[in-house]
Amino acid sequence: MKFLRDLPPVEGKKIIVWTELDVPVENGAVVDNTRLEAAAKTLNYLIEKGAPILMIGHSGRPKGKDPSLSLKPVAKSLEEILEAKIELLEEIKPFESNLAMLENIRFWAAEEEKEPSFAREIARLGQIYVNDCFSTSHRAGSTMLYLPKLLPSYAGIALEREVEELGKIIRSPKRPLVAIIGGAKIETKLPSINNLARVADKVLVGGRLVFEIGNINLDPNVVAASDDIDTKDIGPKSIEIFSEIIKKAAMVVWNGPMGVFEEEKYATGTEAVAQAVTNSQAYSIVGGGDTVDALNKFGVLDKINYVSIGGGAMLEFLAGEELPGITALEKYYGK
Ligand code: 3PG
Repeated sequence: MKFLRDLPPVEGKKIIVWTELDVPVENGAVVDNTRLEAAAKTLNYLIEKGAPILMIGHSGRPKGKDPSLSLKPVAKSLEEILEAKIELLEEIKPFESNLAMLENIRFWAAEEEKEPSFAREIARLGQIYVNDCFSTSHRAGSTMLYLPKLLPSYAGIALEREVEELGKIIRSPKRPLVAIIGGAKIETKLPSINNLARVADKVLVGGRLVFEIGNINLDPNVVAASDDIDTKDIGPKSIEIFSEIIKKAAMVVWNGPMGVFEEEKYATGTEAVAQAVTNSQAYSIVGGGDTVDALNKFGVLDKINYVSIGGGAMLEFLAGEELPGITALEKYYGK
């Protein structure tokens, strides 16, 4: 894999950057800039080197062109962070400005359908490709998969940091290692439960996931919440069991809240787990927008040792699963 420091002089060279643009938007405004601030490092680096940039990225899960998932508010926030004007492209066409952003890449079905011709169309817009989007590298649509085959390719600063930090955990996990999984995006998290159980000493499962496990055969290391409050939070017995296990952990990895913490009534489980994690001696790693949001709300985010930009991507990476967007970067170099 090549990194930004390996780039030849890029002044005037058009660079396509897969950027962390999937941020929470409410009433037409970005409400959490964490991912954009991480993205700014690579963008500023390339701006300084004099390279015109085309950002590509996604917001949410649109079915076709959905104005409510336009990247307009994201571009606006990023303009403030970078103190630079961004040209938002509605169509796939050559860009002339120094800083451009293509509309939500998932507006084009060919991206998620992994259509190679789509990546070829995008590749024509630039001369170099940078993947700086760790959090979507486990999905790998057409551009993530094929741009590394089509253009000289590099890992961006935010992606490099994730691979470096999470890689350390995989190489030398502190034991007992406890993984906590909850929250939404069930279809991708369910398979990760058993994969993580092979790496961790215990996997605690809460949130909606508990009700979706169904007939899946769980690894003996998995402890699913055994009681609940209105199916919207874990119950007191589970809080006690989870807290006891977390207390003894040397390392904790957490993605996904234990319940609908946005509603006061159902925040108890997530808050109790947050307290257990931050009061323990364990080295703590947390990832995913909702989990970070919850910890912020409870005022304990600064007690977490490493906050990952990825949610599902972090879980899959730690479970030893292949992240196709990263594999493509390692395997090809514009070959
Ligand atoms: C994330 O937020 O985890 C990434 O942007 C991936 O989003 P997805 O689960 O909709 O593919």
